[in-house]
Amino acid sequence: MKLVGRVALVTGATGSLGQYICQALAAQGASVVAGYNRSAQAAEDLLSTLSEVAHGHLTCAAPVTDSQALQLLAEQIKNRFGRCDIVVNCAGTTRFVAHANLSGLDDELIDSILTTNIRGPIAVVRALQPLLEQSDDGLIINITSIAGKTAMGSNIAYCASKAALDNLTISLARALAPKIRVVSVAPGLSDTEFVKGLDQDWRNEQASATPLGRLAMPQEVAAAVIAVATQLTFTTGAIIPVDGGRPIH
Ligand SMILES: NC(=O)c1ccc[n+]([C@@H]2O[C@H](COP(=O)([O-])OP(=O)(O)OC[C@H]3O[C@@H](n4cnc5c(N)ncnc54)[C@H](OP(=O)(O)O)[C@@H]3O)[C@@H](O)[C@H]2O)c1
Repeated sequence: MKLVGRVALVTGATGSLGQYICQALAAQGASVVAGYNRSAQAAEDLLSTLSEVAHGHLTCAAPVTDSQALQLLAEQIKNRFGRCDIVVNCAGTTRFVAHANLSGLDDELIDSILTTNIRGPIAVVRALQPLLEQSDDGLIINITSIAGKTAMGSNIAYCASKAALDNLTISLARALAPKIRVVSVAPGLSDTEFVKGLDQDWRNEQASATPLGRLAMPQEVAAAVIAVATQLTFTTGAIIPVDGGRPIH
């Protein structure tokens, strides 16, 4: 219970990884702001799975491509809790397009991926910066991906967006120090519902190509977020892999 009294915003909270991150933060005593995109109901349902904490939890619209809505989100957090200590940029989007299939990667898809995965986190940080600066331990965690390093992932725009987000982590860590730490948590392929729905042989191949012999569990990604928040207190501008050693295969 190392985050008692802290307030943590998670974007993409209702997603496969976001849910586990919210649950892990609440289990450490943090009040969670579950930022949703399309489904307020899914966020309400998620809240009922979180450990109870002194000041409760909150659901808020957090569409990362809408900067005005993000300002409203910051006001809602301020009005309810008067603080925000942790921001986890977990919202993200992608679609499978073979890397050589450039005509399958149309401008609309590229714009959607880059706007959500890189402009989005910048806009979230811009909106929450004043509150994070008031915290005595402000922290931003960007959920990036192994794809940012290996350039292996659902499509080339997605890989580029995650590389850009890792780069943003470094810029922001420098720019916002010493008030706010900024860290990437970079999962490998994770055992989420979406991934479970993919071709079994392909999933097995990915697991075999991972030195630790399996995919990441969502709980392990959430555990890395908690470790950054509670243990790695002298770490900023770093990329923490949760990938079973996949890049060294
Ligand atoms: N799963 C993996 O294997 C894996 C591996 C490495 C990295 N990651 C990264 O981890 C993060 C979470 O992935 P996931 O597997 O949990 O994916 P997911 O289940 O598809 O969840 C993505 C979340 O992002 C939200 N989102 C999408 N567009 C948004 C927007 N414009 N504004 C606000 N929220 C938006 C979605 O909300 P709606 O559904 O309501 O739109 C959803 O809650 C992503 O950044 C992803 O790139 C995942």
